[in-house]
Amino acid sequence: MENIGIGVIGCGGMGRSLANGANAVEGIEVVCVSDLQEELAKTLAENLDADYTTDYHELLANDDIQAVLIASPPFLHAPMAVDAANAGKHVFSEKPMAPTLDDCDAMINAASENNVKLTIGLVCRYHATHSKVREIVHSGELGAPANMMVHRIGGPWGGGHRTPWRLERAKSGGSLMEINAHEIDFLRWTCGDVTSVYGAGGNYVQKDTDYPDVVLASLNFENGAVGLLHSSHASAVGGYGGRVDCEKGSIYFPQIWGGDATIQIKPFDGEGRSIRIGDIKVPQPVQQEIRVFVDAIRNDTTPPITGVDGRAAVEIALAAYQSVESGQPVSLPL
Ligand SMILES: NC(=O)c1ccc[n+]([C@@H]2O[C@H](COP(=O)([O-])OP(=O)(O)OC[C@H]3O[C@@H](n4cnc5c(N)ncnc54)[C@H](O)[C@@H]3O)[C@@H](O)[C@H]2O)c1
Repeated sequence: MENIGIGVIGCGGMGRSLANGANAVEGIEVVCVSDLQEELAKTLAENLDADYTTDYHELLANDDIQAVLIASPPFLHAPMAVDAANAGKHVFSEKPMAPTLDDCDAMINAASENNVKLTIGLVCRYHATHSKVREIVHSGELGAPANMMVHRIGGPWGGGHRTPWRLERAKSGGSLMEINAHEIDFLRWTCGDVTSVYGAGGNYVQKDTDYPDVVLASLNFENGAVGLLHSSHASAVGGYGGRVDCEKGSIYFPQIWGGDATIQIKPFDGEGRSIRIGDIKVPQPVQQEIRVFVDAIRNDTTPPITGVDGRAAVEIALAAYQSVESGQPVSLPL
């Protein structure tokens, strides 16, 4: 099997995670990494025995690189992805795809025009709880879903995540994209396309951001089910979990990861069961999202997570923001 040469753009927290993840996958060689902060790029390159540059265009000119992993702040995903596609490189872009639909469309069009693969790092699809919950719903054992609720709540941005770009919606997409791209995708991946969004929220605690720090977004799915996302930076008692109630029973996952978390499955008729999340065996998620991307390149197939999926999560978040501002439900497509 011939190695696929990879370039990593952005060597912050996630860029390092992607680069190390890629390096651990069979048949991949990280050839070069790039960051404006030379020290970050140099250190990562040394750890991986790769080259580095502070100018990502140099990385794109390298013929040994077939694909790039983009882990810059979200407002830079589109220009970098378009440059990469125009240079003939396959593109893996971190979530959120981009803060605007125009940027998402530019990425999709550039990939299509240059006949390169495009995927978005919606890595929760490879996590144990998300994938198991979706599998149970799609197995049909509990009938059609009636409602799905997900909360991912915590305090204000802190630690290494408190970067200046995260405080601006134009750069990060705000929390509905920067954090909840994952949960929005989880809701849509499980229940299907969304036809309208009603959002209520505001800015209550994290006053130095220009976007709401609490949003309750209710979703209407095309199949008739309804959904609710609770997104918050205003909760001193954080949490990440949810439930899906279906025609014939319910799935309850109070805690998505950590400790002795379980998924509880209870039909109206008959015995319930409980799955310990720690017992669900999945490949390491970051390695797996890179593995399937590289498999799609090798086999010339469509990656499982497409630009359309990335764009859909952005569109739902934009509709929720619009609804919070107007007080009105917002129909999709925007
Ligand atoms: N999948 C996940 O669970 C997950 C987790 C964290 C972050 N992310 C995503 O990864 C992306 C990056 O997040 P992060 O936490 O690593 O941010 P970060 O701020 O730690 O890193 C971003 C890096 O991009 C670099 N950069 C900026 N402009 C550049 C340019 N022109 N050329 C090269 N490098 C440039 C910055 O110097 C910085 O080092 C975001 O889209 C974020 O949403 C995903």
